[in-house]
Amino acid sequence: NNELTVLGIESSCDDTAAAVLRGRSVLSSVVLGQTSLHADFGGVVPEIAARAHAEKLDDVVRQALREAGTKAGEIDAIAVTAGPGLIGGVVSGVMLAKGMAAALDIPMYGVNHLAGHALTPRLTDAVEYPYLMLLVSGGHCQFLQVSGPDTFRRLGGTIDDAPGEAFDKVARLIGLPQPGGPSIERAALQGYPKRFALPRPLLDREGCDMSFSGLKTATLRARDKVVAQKGGLTGQDQNDLAAGFQAAVADVLQEKCRRAVAASGPITALCVAGGVAANQTIRVGLETVAHGRGVPFIAPPLALCTDNAAMIAYAAIEQMQTRAPDGMDLSARPRMPL
Ligand code: KG4
Ligand code: ZN
Repeated sequence: NNELTVLGIESSCDDTAAAVLRGRSVLSSVVLGQTSLHADFGGVVPEIAARAHAEKLDDVVRQALREAGTKAGEIDAIAVTAGPGLIGGVVSGVMLAKGMAAALDIPMYGVNHLAGHALTPRLTDAVEYPYLMLLVSGGHCQFLQVSGPDTFRRLGGTIDDAPGEAFDKVARLIGLPQPGGPSIERAALQGYPKRFALPRPLLDREGCDMSFSGLKTATLRARDKVVAQKGGLTGQDQNDLAAGFQAAVADVLQEKCRRAVAASGPITALCVAGGVAANQTIRVGLETVAHGRGVPFIAPPLALCTDNAAMIAYAAIEQMQTRAPDGMDLSARPRMPL
């Protein structure tokens, strides 16, 4: 399928994205974020997201085609995120994909958003099956053993918040700007991680499941104690809270990753995807685990690690070899198991 030109569409959260791939070549990848639209609300507002996707999707697709130098008539297939995600955005993407597939008389593939993330190391680094993937972002946190384009074994994941969500909430609680991940990482550089004794949830429990909501609450309590004593937080207090929280997340991810690696069968690599994988402290911990197992640590470039449509087009290119296209009865699904 190296010659096929595939248009990908992704609109399941707060990025409106389209991409054109020819085999493993990314001819274009356009991602239009909505951060500023949601900034006043402390999180993604589904209704605002849905409206923005509906308004922008056709422009974003046109831009992706233009940047790729591809005419609509030259596309061989369309790939679209069919779920899981915020249903309003997914519906917009699926409707557009159906319309284009029908008008152009080409096959359409509904792709699971998580499969898109999970297959990205094959797009960027040609990683061979089977490999272990840690998906760690604002919305996801799970370990997957990936053995084929449609073959995933879930080894464990968060039982409550995703780590990125926890980074964002903790940043808000200690007065650092959004998105919380980068601002906590920056503050932590000047902080002392051991000043506050924060928990490492579920490390005492066997298996690869994780929990981050209690850690968030513990960080909030530590903050409240300081505020009660001093009437507010100094910059150093912020830095120490950030460093303590980040160290706890990194410890949990590293230890659970060690267990996931031990629990998985043969693997060729340990891979990560998702925005939280940008964190250097977390990366170093995971790298240590990979090297302990004697496999490479693969972190795709950030633009392909976070939400994008190239990963959706690529997943379809692989899945074309194992399954038939979807029909006009393809449904948009808020929940969708891998
Ligand atoms: O993958 P992503 O762009 O979107 C989805 O959640 O699907 O991930 C965004 C999340 C945000 O919660 C953000 O705070 C977090 O990734 N993040 C980080 C860092 N950069 C982004 N978390 C920790 N450290 C970072 N450097
Ligand atoms: Zn995602």
